[in-house]
Amino acid sequence: MKIFLDSANLVEIKEAVSWGAIDGVTTNPSLVSKEQQDFFELLRTICEIVNGPVSMETISKDAAGMAQEGRQFSALHPNIIVKCPLTKEGLKATRQLASEHIRVNVTLCFSPSQALLAAKAGAFYVSPFIGRLDDISNDGMQLIRQIKTIYANYRFPTQILVASVRHPIHVVEAAQIGADIATMPFGTLEALIRHPLTDIGLERFLKDWERLPQSARNLINPNVGSLAKAVR
Ligand code: E4P
Repeated sequence: MKIFLDSANLVEIKEAVSWGAIDGVTTNPSLVSKEQQDFFELLRTICEIVNGPVSMETISKDAAGMAQEGRQFSALHPNIIVKCPLTKEGLKATRQLASEHIRVNVTLCFSPSQALLAAKAGAFYVSPFIGRLDDISNDGMQLIRQIKTIYANYRFPTQILVASVRHPIHVVEAAQIGADIATMPFGTLEALIRHPLTDIGLERFLKDWERLPQSARNLINPNVGSLAKAVR
């Protein structure tokens, strides 16, 4: 499963890239507005940092406007994916942009029937928002299972991008189901790394290392270079 960072913050994106952890980025108008920067400049910079797909959402309400914005976004960088909402107008825009070979991420998906229509319209990605479903006492992960079955039954090429991910269990379950991608905020990505036993284990190893006499703790072995040369 690919991992995307759900953020428009350059510090977070650079840090996640440095861990080799992310395959792409998703943004939305709420995330972009937090950054208070020129929008196109920000989008271009994100694309330069990330070697993978970067989703940005259209803000028009009608299909013609969404398609127009989508063309503008995609002209900015080859990694751009245009996000259109799962409305009638969004589906029309998806169909139009897909016919122009522009990749669309159909966003704000909350039901299997919506996901079916996104695939039929030619979506490259569909983004089911599982955390927001959990928030209203629905089982968000069940939606991922349903979409997975529907897409497999009819061999739809649309990829399932699990969105509104809130914690590591969401990520692990999405991977077990076989979702294509999970996008998550920086805090959740960090939480994937942390384990108390890793911290305790590392502390113990380093303490034990200190027990070695100082003279035996030289990590730079003068013989290693000559040995490597001899082997070659
Ligand atoms: C996905 O593309 C969305 O930007 C995102 O996952 C929404 O998450 P939220 O429900 O935490 O805002």
